[in-house]
Amino acid sequence: MNRQALGMHLVLLLVAGLLGVKLLLAHDAGPAPASESASPWGADYFPNTLLTDQDGRQVRFFDDLVKGKVVVINFIFTSCSDSCPLETARLRQVQNLLGDRVGRDVFFYSISIDPLSDTPEVLGAYARRFKVGPGWRFLTGDFAEITELRRKLGLFIEGVDNGRSRDHNLSLIVGNQQTGRWMKASPFENPWILADQLGNSLQNWKQPSLADSYVNAPEIRPPSTGEELFRTRCASCHSLGPQDGQGIGMRSIGPDLIGVTEQRDPAWLSRWIREPDRLLAEQDPIALALFQRYERIPMPNLRLDEPSVQAIIAFLHEETARQRTSMAQVQ
Ligand code: HEC
Repeated sequence: MNRQALGMHLVLLLVAGLLGVKLLLAHDAGPAPASESASPWGADYFPNTLLTDQDGRQVRFFDDLVKGKVVVINFIFTSCSDSCPLETARLRQVQNLLGDRVGRDVFFYSISIDPLSDTPEVLGAYARRFKVGPGWRFLTGDFAEITELRRKLGLFIEGVDNGRSRDHNLSLIVGNQQTGRWMKASPFENPWILADQLGNSLQNWKQPSLADSYVNAPEIRPPSTGEELFRTRCASCHSLGPQDGQGIGMRSIGPDLIGVTEQRDPAWLSRWIREPDRLLAEQDPIALALFQRYERIPMPNLRLDEPSVQAIIAFLHEETARQRTSMAQVQ
């Protein structure tokens, strides 16, 4: 292996490591520190950066935006044409799923990394274009201070974010300042998973009480076994529909899987998910054609048992139906 290839391998390992950490964090169900003093990240950690929102209101990052709150923070720039609109549309779906709770017990912040161009007016127009509801602020401020804020949130990657690359994959963080639980999330995470984190697990499973009367807050669907399996075992190579990066090279090692339960024979599908290597070895014509089309990268045998395979298929089926109906409404 030459030096360049070795370097590439290290980068890949690092990325895999980061993803692993993310998953671990996301699945950590351990008790959160009870008192605020136990929270490792407070006023002494977060800068109290002065920011201006899309309505021209001035706010302080720590005091006004995160202190004692469950928040989702991402960094965008309005002239970005590829990943940001997708990310904003995705968060828009999460906002819809949380309904009334946004602005009351969950807060959304999109902070510009191009504050010179992104004035409050520009941000306001952008927010209107995406039809964002109340409780979601678009913020601008001083470039150096925003960069510092990104560093503090662990959303600034040296050499990537100050280089020319537009790679901006880890630009979303969700957390609860009071309990000190913070996790990076992929902006391409399934909106139901993000909504579940923001509405359930980060709130320590405390549901909005009747007294709070979140009249329009829908109940948040917890991920099924099939969905969990898909997210952990399949989603690194396969996208699920346009909002998941279909057609723009996200997770495109294998084919997009929306609708696959309708396109393929059920027996073939379950056998393929269970033992793709054997189908290929048997020279199954569909397997051979897919293998040729996908750069001769074989789909791995993930050693799933039959119930897991069926759970995944059920999820793929439900997700296809869901994207046809509710995603269309959310758009
Ligand atoms: C390491 C990447 C990788 C992982 C992980 C992976 N796949 Fe695949 N998958 C592929 C590739 C590549 C193909 C295309 C066929 C080939 O080249 O072998 C494929 C093809 C498929 C197909 C056939 C699509 C069609 O059009 O019929 C299905 C279904 C599928 N995968 C489901 C899954 C499921 C479910 C999981 C998780 C349990 C999974 N894959 C995990 C890479 C992967």
